[in-house]
Amino acid sequence: MADFVEIVEMAPRDGLQNEKRLIPTAEKIALVDALSEVGFRRIEVASFVSPKWVPQMADGAAVLAGIRRAPGVIYTALTPNLQGITAALAAGVGEVAIFASASEGFSKANLNCSILESLERFEPVMQAANVANIKVRGYVSMVTDCPFDGPTAPAQVARVVAALSAMGCHELSLGDTIGRARPERTDAMLAAVLEEIAPSRLAGHFHDTEGRALDNIEVSLARGLRIFDAAAGGLGGCPYAPGAAGNVATERVAAHLERLGYATGLDRDKLARAAARAQAIKGGGE
Ligand code: HMG
Ligand code: MG
Repeated sequence: MADFVEIVEMAPRDGLQNEKRLIPTAEKIALVDALSEVGFRRIEVASFVSPKWVPQMADGAAVLAGIRRAPGVIYTALTPNLQGITAALAAGVGEVAIFASASEGFSKANLNCSILESLERFEPVMQAANVANIKVRGYVSMVTDCPFDGPTAPAQVARVVAALSAMGCHELSLGDTIGRARPERTDAMLAAVLEEIAPSRLAGHFHDTEGRALDNIEVSLARGLRIFDAAAGGLGGCPYAPGAAGNVATERVAAHLERLGYATGLDRDKLARAAARAQAIKGGGE
């Protein structure tokens, strides 16, 4: 049987968060509903962050209230602090994610605090998740390059990964936030991180600014990773990371993995339809 690779779908969150047009909630719900048909185990649908920081994500609770929940699909959201996880739990998320940076410059730009302060703020989020009995994913951004601080040292990524793991994150997603990672740098970073944590608990999160995301995925597969984040239609970008382009497109990742002999469990036609819907939203609405 083919080796299974999970693709965690990002379009409704990472894909839409940077769109300039304020997208109507109904369009977001329709996108999530289309994605729910495709066969994903997890879809990241919202961020419970400050609406002043990311206005596009302000309607997360309404999105979660409006979607048709498909059996077997876990709907996830970003929660940077206690206020965020409280709202996310009330909205009925199945998993949450905290997000740290490997670089101080991006931590300040994205979370308005140092890396150490961000880790302190995540403690109550972990406690609330434990009480609610839901899993917490940990993102680490700028794993090879940062637009503020330059190249990121692999040992620094490993330190932040180890801290989030010790806090109780079940999985760590390694973010090439600005899509500039060269595969050899990704490989060196993974070598350091794998000293701390097993590959089964790591995910690769590659943006595709320079068209190297599939190469970075191949390097990660060779290192034993079997979970990758991607966004249908290649949507995305981070509002606080200058130069960040879209996540690697789910349909390209799925096709590439299948060519390499891996199973993804995704329905190609339904994925194509969801990707077209995602691109229509980006293009200005239906
Ligand atoms: P702050 O301004 O330092 O926070 O922001 P604060 O605690 O001083 O609060 C300021 C205001 O925000 C208050 O409202 C709070 O109530 C409100 P006011 O009194 O001024 O009216 N507030 C909130 N409102 C709703 N939900 C909340 C919340 N928290 C505070 N949870 C904060 C700190 C973390 C809130 C802010 O910096 C923030 O929201 N940052 C999020 C930025 C973000 O979402 N970035 C994009 C996602 S990360 C990403 O894309 C990378 C990733 O894809 C991986 C990769 O690619 O590498 C994951
Ligand atoms: Mg991202």
